[in-house]
Amino acid sequence: MKIFLSILCLSWLFTASLVAQSQIPHWEQQGTATQLIINNEPKLLLAGELGNSSASSPQDIERIFPKLQRMGLNTVLVPAYWDLIEPQEGKFNFSLIDKAIEQARKNELKIIFLWFGAWKNSMSCYAPMWFKNNYKKYPRTRTETGKPLEIASPFSENVFQADSKAFVKLMQHIAQIDSTEHTVIMIQVENEIGMLENARDYSEEANRLFNSKLPDKLTTYLQKNKKQLHPWLYDKWQQAGGKIKGTWQEVFGKDIYTDEIFMAWYYASYVERMIQCGRKVYKLPMYVNAAMNSRGRKPGEYPAAGPLAHLIDIWHCAAPSIDLLAPDLYDKGFTDWTAQYKLHNNPLFIPEIRLEANDGVRAFYVFGEHDAIGFSPFSIEDTPESSNYPLIQSYRKLKELMPIITRYQGKGVMKGLLFDQNNKERILTWGETNLICRHFFTLPWDARATDGSIWPEGGGIIIRMSEDEYLIAGSGIVVEFKSSDEIDNKVEKKQLGEDGFVATGGTQNVKEKWNGGSRIGIGSVDEVNINADGTLQYIRRLNGDQDHQGRHARIGVDEFSILHVRLYTYK
Ligand code: DGJ
Repeated sequence: MKIFLSILCLSWLFTASLVAQSQIPHWEQQGTATQLIINNEPKLLLAGELGNSSASSPQDIERIFPKLQRMGLNTVLVPAYWDLIEPQEGKFNFSLIDKAIEQARKNELKIIFLWFGAWKNSMSCYAPMWFKNNYKKYPRTRTETGKPLEIASPFSENVFQADSKAFVKLMQHIAQIDSTEHTVIMIQVENEIGMLENARDYSEEANRLFNSKLPDKLTTYLQKNKKQLHPWLYDKWQQAGGKIKGTWQEVFGKDIYTDEIFMAWYYASYVERMIQCGRKVYKLPMYVNAAMNSRGRKPGEYPAAGPLAHLIDIWHCAAPSIDLLAPDLYDKGFTDWTAQYKLHNNPLFIPEIRLEANDGVRAFYVFGEHDAIGFSPFSIEDTPESSNYPLIQSYRKLKELMPIITRYQGKGVMKGLLFDQNNKERILTWGETNLICRHFFTLPWDARATDGSIWPEGGGIIIRMSEDEYLIAGSGIVVEFKSSDEIDNKVEKKQLGEDGFVATGGTQNVKEKWNGGSRIGIGSVDEVNINADGTLQYIRRLNGDQDHQGRHARIGVDEFSILHVRLYTYK
């Protein structure tokens, strides 16, 4: 009987593990965080996006993918080119897709395919020649003056049919070859959709719809979600009178931003249909990416009507099947942009960011501060291949940290830090404990702090594991711990040297008042590794000069490491 039961148990376990193995990538919620579950575990995408032409030859794919593995990426974003997939109408060639999947498997990478279909950076440059030539069947958008643009019209059913047919074939192909292994984990639908030159299309059909009544679906949405609308949309709507019936201009006012809202509705409706068609054959997570409305540009100067934060309600209402709107970050103001896209109704994924040395700490910041799904510098194959390059060091440590970060996401105990020369300090408070976090170069001991060098950004993740136990990980940061009593008492701070003694004499006479209360001391600072199961592995104790004789925990600007800090309280 016992033997029978164990056989039964074993076969049940075996079947269960097979079922578990074949789980498709999907989303799960943990507290306030949305997690991407891959092979049954929440994963952070330590990713990079290939340059636009880097997946158009099998030789390039074979050359690049092993480098990505050596760099420590776990995911690569790869263009799927419509013109090369369907060079002749109805004849499909998936050899580049197959090559990418084969190489990804060989190099332990996951893939996100980017459907460069009807639109890429607004334009229709990746549409096949048979589509481009037949502009009567596949019409273009027009400017106000009637000039045709190389932007296929989202109002054309023929455009949609041709684009979606190829997209569905791609999804079918991926389903056929990948529904067991799940190398492909997500799909980006089109690329940086948006209108250029004008904020909307002025073709006949577009004009007709622009002068028609707002779709009922949108008026119902506005009423139902009034309290949670994006503040920009809410204000615009209210300033125009808050009407729920009328044409686009009657409801939102007469300006180019209304043109943009109108256009966003139709782009999003198009994408919704694409996703529905694609998901009928294979149910993968899907998202859209946006070029930013930055540098004081107006709609049409930037790709108008794309999946931008201020248009999130329009996109959500017209395209509820989209999993997230993702920002492509090439401009200054990284923390502001990321905050705009981490919303209560939008998890943060950064599919593109300019490849630069500061990306290493920025990756730490978004995972710590915003429970990001992933981080992906653009043209990743151009990364210098030195094991000290910040992004490579950063991904190495983030990979280690993944079991811990995913355990603490969405629970209010994790924060991200990012500092530069202008933003040097942030104070984090949990209960009675205050963490005074600063850029490493606020310590004047490194010549680069004061010799006019541009400071590399410093940043990291802080995790409060318990009341008196913290993990500090990243690069270029220093953290002091103070009780709330100490902050209230405003203890006088003197400039100390590296040894912890007053740097210059004669400043000792500052009168300080101590009204009582407790102080926080550092019990220990250990540099640690994280094991695959999330347990901590001691490397070395950092004490004496390395923690300023118990005054702080720090990580220099040229290294990435993980510190385990224990605190205690004294009176
Ligand atoms: C954003 C686009 O999405 C990318 O495909 C690429 O064109 C980069 N800009 C910059 O070159």
